[in-house]
Amino acid sequence: MPAPKLTKRLTRDRVPKIDIYSEEGECPKQVDGFLEFLNINFIYPSRPGVQVLQNFNLLVPNGKITALVGASGSGKSTIVGLAERWYDPVEGQILLDGQDLKRLNLRWLRNQISLISQVHFQQYLLISGANAVQCDYLRECLSWSYW
Ligand SMILES: Nc1ncnc2c1ncn2[C@@H]1O[C@H](COP(=O)(O)OP(=O)(O)O)[C@@H](O)[C@H]1O
Ligand SMILES: [Mg+2]
Repeated sequence: MPAPKLTKRLTRDRVPKIDIYSEEGECPKQVDGFLEFLNINFIYPSRPGVQVLQNFNLLVPNGKITALVGASGSGKSTIVGLAERWYDPVEGQILLDGQDLKRLNLRWLRNQISLISQVHFQQYLLISGANAVQCDYLRECLSWSYW
């Protein structure tokens, strides 16, 4: 196949289903931050044999601190990843302030969420000598972030 044709075909074939460059979707002026996970079934495409979330339901009220607690591998990061739309659920709906995430502009959605990874936070505690309960940094983060 000639190079230009091949390039075009590769480019077209590689448009992802969840497209960060898409201009589509709503950008609400105000966000309260009420998140709902409704009857979520989820399987990572690379591991079709493992159902990671099965009929999973969670309400995350706005204006409150919500902790996801569970053993390693129980699905905490997956839930955060779904809220940021790195993947879409196989079944079920995720709503932000009552709107399905799929109807929101993706870049706008990701701009509403701040994630501090565990590794960076642990490094901060290690370097600063702070402890997690008395940590001003954590308090500051929680005042404007989902974690
Ligand atoms: N990118 C991925 N591809 C395939 N499987 C994954 C991926 N990320 C996590 N998993 C699997 O999904 C399950 C939940 O993992 P995860 O959400 O990372 O749990 P936690 O954050 O609670 O430790 C585990 O079985 C894990 O191996
Ligand atoms: Mg995790």
